[in-house]
Amino acid sequence: MIYRNQKNLEIWNKYGDNVLMVMPFEDNIIVKAKDCMIEDADGNRFLDLASGQLCAVLGHNHPNLVERIVNQAREVIHSGTNFLSLPVMEAASKLAEVATGDLKKSIFLSTGSEANECALRLAKIHTQRTGMAGFTLGYSGMTLAMRSVSSSFGVPIASRPAVPDSHSILTPYCRKCPVDAEYPQCDFLCLQVSENELGRDKDEIAAFIVEPIISAGGMIVPPDGYFKRLKEFVNRCGALLIADEAQTG
Ligand SMILES: Cc1ncc(COP(=O)(O)O)c(C=O)c1O
Repeated sequence: MIYRNQKNLEIWNKYGDNVLMVMPFEDNIIVKAKDCMIEDADGNRFLDLASGQLCAVLGHNHPNLVERIVNQAREVIHSGTNFLSLPVMEAASKLAEVATGDLKKSIFLSTGSEANECALRLAKIHTQRTGMAGFTLGYSGMTLAMRSVSSSFGVPIASRPAVPDSHSILTPYCRKCPVDAEYPQCDFLCLQVSENELGRDKDEIAAFIVEPIISAGGMIVPPDGYFKRLKEFVNRCGALLIADEAQTG
């Protein structure tokens, strides 16, 4: 198939000046998506290996999902924050059925950053503490608090100063071990060093927020047994552990 880029560029020429370039966007203007394929204005088709922003878990435009969205839009599209709608309550109930342990309550938000902010605020209320910590190579979102515990892209001027009481712990990145040790003989030295570095600050941490697989930081899979030891450490601190599953699901 010949790659074309004429209509894409025409659209950019017509509208591009009014788009805030917060990142280097691709030329391709996406006009259609179906199953695992996306199509641009010039008819170029791509296999979408990223599932959109990692969210099209049913494939793009699954007919059942489209039907549910259209039907619901005919009934209610929007209500004030002080009201709930029936599908929200049904979805919470279904999640409670499949969630493990005593995870029985849900809140539905629009973005991963919002979900993490909300989890963190709940942790602060629960623990009556103000601190938070994330991995040195973690990424939890674009909001100011999340950028304060996300160091994977450095800390650009737009994210400074960090929210007070933000901390980090070493990423369990065995291939490039941050403490030059060897797994499993290391006995999770990275955690022990992190604990020492936090010192007394650890007693003020409400929650540690971590990705099960550190994604933006380099698709790093922590070694077996790491999360058990992390949970023990978090318990010792009297803090909560938030699993940011925005990418892993
Ligand atoms: C692990 C992780 N957490 C949080 C976020 C933030 O999600 P959102 O961009 O929907 O705010 C992302 C986004 O890519 C992510 O990868």
